[in-house]
Amino acid sequence: MTAPTAPAAALPPFPRDFLWGVSTSAHQIEGAADQRGRSVWDAFTAEPGRVKDGTTAAVACDHYHRYQEDVALLRDLGVDAYRFSVSWPRAESPDGLGFYDRLVDELCAAGVRPVPTLFHWDLPLGIEEAGGWLHRGTAERFAAYAATVADRIGDRVQKWITLNEPAEHTLLGHALGAHAPGKQLLFDALPVAHHQLLAHGLAVRALRAAGARDIGIANSHGPTWPASQRPDDREAADFYDVLLNRLFADPLILGRYPDGIAELLPGDVSADLRIISEPLDWYGINYYQPTKVGAPQGAEIEFSGLTLPAELPFSVRELDDYPVTGFGWPVVPEALTELLVGFRERYGDRLPPLVITENGCSYDGLDDQERIAFLDSHLRALHRALEAGVDVRGYFVWSLLDNFEWAEGYRQRFGLVHIDYDTLERTPKASYAWLREALRAQARG
Ligand code: NOJ
Repeated sequence: MTAPTAPAAALPPFPRDFLWGVSTSAHQIEGAADQRGRSVWDAFTAEPGRVKDGTTAAVACDHYHRYQEDVALLRDLGVDAYRFSVSWPRAESPDGLGFYDRLVDELCAAGVRPVPTLFHWDLPLGIEEAGGWLHRGTAERFAAYAATVADRIGDRVQKWITLNEPAEHTLLGHALGAHAPGKQLLFDALPVAHHQLLAHGLAVRALRAAGARDIGIANSHGPTWPASQRPDDREAADFYDVLLNRLFADPLILGRYPDGIAELLPGDVSADLRIISEPLDWYGINYYQPTKVGAPQGAEIEFSGLTLPAELPFSVRELDDYPVTGFGWPVVPEALTELLVGFRERYGDRLPPLVITENGCSYDGLDDQERIAFLDSHLRALHRALEAGVDVRGYFVWSLLDNFEWAEGYRQRFGLVHIDYDTLERTPKASYAWLREALRAQARG
């Protein structure tokens, strides 16, 4: 293990019952693709040119066969909880579900609380072929799948997450085509957002009917900063803020869509909104970075590896004044405080307790001092939000392991633990040792 370099000062004390965890997702780590049904990501990665380094997740970290070693890493790290996802195409068979049975048992034996996410983008290919998220029936099938998983592992799982980042799955997967299933529908992708939200609400009901009590969702959010105070830049930034933030948070928390959105959806969605706004026990936020947005510039732009079409009513600008991660993403911890305080201001007493369900960064190397600095600064930013009165109950690092970073392949390494993709050997990085020390210090109080 690589030695940690202690940050200049220890982290401030977090509440005693604050939940500390790390996150992964099935498609990104499990491998064993031959022992489950195919998903949209299997089909997508089989198409040449879709993944930058030409790889697939057929083996990934081989977590399916090495989960005991990975749970031992979690136990030694000292986290309270582990957020993983259930692969829907794996869970379609009783044998596949058996894997999650074994994983949950192993976690419980290690004293780590299992926090499953039911959908982290790997839709069964058969469901995609029947219309996927453009089709309302997928929401009903998701609720039935949620009930099946709850029947199998619900006796040992208290905390549940329905969906991961429906915004990114809509935007990258269905509007821009950079992720599976590779559709480029631009604004015609809106029903994908609605049907995922409906799937969430139906699943909350199904999980509660199966006895689940502590249910949340993991949404990607970040502050949107206008490129200038000019009215056209502010208007464009506001529009982007609706797409990334309010399109998902408003229906879940307030039971309504932002102005102008419901009219773009097929039919009357008011009955659906009552299902979507089924009260949540907590609300998960995945935070990575803020976005600077201005008026459209009338040309395609390259942003974060994506080509954004010229016809969008906004343009995304570079945030020049900040250091960047290995992915080129700006490191802006203070935007996390702004985001959390902003949520509290916007939603007031309707806001459920918050949990940071993902936060992390991609850097190479075992002596990953930049990741330590990133985590340290973001935890301090989170603490400032606590001091400002925002009710945040937990924090999950993305990710336990280096893994298959979607269209980037294996090039972007987000793990606290390094994976050698030739030997599949796991090596804890300096950041793993740092987090372990930080958690011990929190426990000492
Ligand atoms: C969010 C996604 O949920 C996760 O799958 C991804 O790897 C991280 N962001 C980093 O991009």
